Amino acid sequence: EPEALDPRLRAPDLVDRELSVGLPDAATRRALLERLLADVPRAGDVDLGAVAARTPGFVVADLAAVRREAAVSAALRGAGSDPSEQVRQSDLLDAVGSVRPISLSGGGTLGSGGLTLDDVGDMTEVKAALTEAVLWPLRHPDSFARLGVDAPRGVLLYGPPGGGKTFLLRALAGSGDLNVFAVKGAELLDKYVGESERAVRELFRRAGEAAPALIFLDEVDALAPRRGGSTDAGVADRVVAALLTELDGATPLREVVVVGATNRPELIDPAMLRPGRLERLVFVPPPDAAARADILRAAGRDVPLADDVDLDALASELDGYSAADCAALLREAALTAMRESLDAGEVTAAHLATARRAVRASLDPAQVAELEAYARRRSDG
Ligand SMILES: Nc1ncnc2c1ncn2[C@@H]1O[C@H](COP(=O)(O)OP(=O)(O)OP(=O)(O)O)[C@@H](O)[C@H]1O
Ligand SMILES: [Mg+2]
Repeated sequence: EPEALDPRLRAPDLVDRELSVGLPDAATRRALLERLLADVPRAGDVDLGAVAARTPGFVVADLAAVRREAAVSAALRGAGSDPSEQVRQSDLLDAVGSVRPISLSGGGTLGSGGLTLDDVGDMTEVKAALTEAVLWPLRHPDSFARLGVDAPRGVLLYGPPGGGKTFLLRALAGSGDLNVFAVKGAELLDKYVGESERAVRELFRRAGEAAPALIFLDEVDALAPRRGGSTDAGVADRVVAALLTELDGATPLREVVVVGATNRPELIDPAMLRPGRLERLVFVPPPDAAARADILRAAGRDVPLADDVDLDALASELDGYSAADCAALLREAALTAMRESLDAGEVTAAHLATARRAVRASLDPAQVAELEAYARRRSDG
């Protein structure tokens, strides 16, 4: 933490050279793995390049931990029976999943809770927009270079509450392709003078080091409200200024994409939404009947449903239900089944009907109309 040192120590006449030992890139990680695994008996399917590609943000100590975990699982498999057991590719990849890299341990990263994109029902358009705006720049920087354009810097997801914005980003973090740094708007704000701006700079610096990375500013309306209107002695204004500076790349961002999410886009400072900043606006609409059916299927993947349950028919009756309501409905139905009998083995149509009396539609038509009007204004240009 060089910034934490007494500046007098870093004066030009005292300690006058500074050498930064950054995070290893994929090629370096591969070389490190080669060396770390030099004495480890490896099966033929081991592909260290693939392991290196899966470990952005890992420092050499993390890679050593991967080696240890992989060796332990190989040893357990061979215990007693086959003392010549070797480390396989699957051991290494499992180990990658279980090691939490040091560079990400400072908090602020998004726990995916084991979610994957398969857990997310519907949202096809939103997923496609995110793939283009988030995964392309990270996976195909050469294509952007060839066409002579900069990759989009940021995306703003907006839509009514409970639409799955946060959920989708958690699933994206779980896909393992990139490091996700997440903050909630309010978390950064309530700090001492000057601390919030420092936290913003620190966030972007750490993401830059862990590239390819994604910075997720959840509830960004709290973080970047219209300037000049606040009552908190200008803290919010200074945070907006710091965010704009970072987004404009005072320190050039390499392979870092920023995604914001909000259910009140009109509160965000317009300067945040200019090209080069959160330029791509993606509307997450309230789910229609087909989308609700998809969401019910995804949310109910592990719920044993009785034969009399028709999710499509159910979905078509759930007008005004958000994605969160649909998920809550299934949860409530399962609880209803449990209340009847703790040994309940399936959830029936009757349970769902009871649950519908407890879980009401939460979408507010006025708010939805407002958001749709906003979406129309934006797409008209
Ligand atoms: N597409 C989906 N498929 C399955 N479940 C979903 C989906 N979208 C949302 N859910 C469920 O709804 C819950 C709430 O969604 P989430 O918190 O992501 O909404 P949000 O859009 O971030 O709302 P807010 O604007 O209030 O922050 C999730 O935890 C999940 O259980
Ligand atoms: Mg949210």
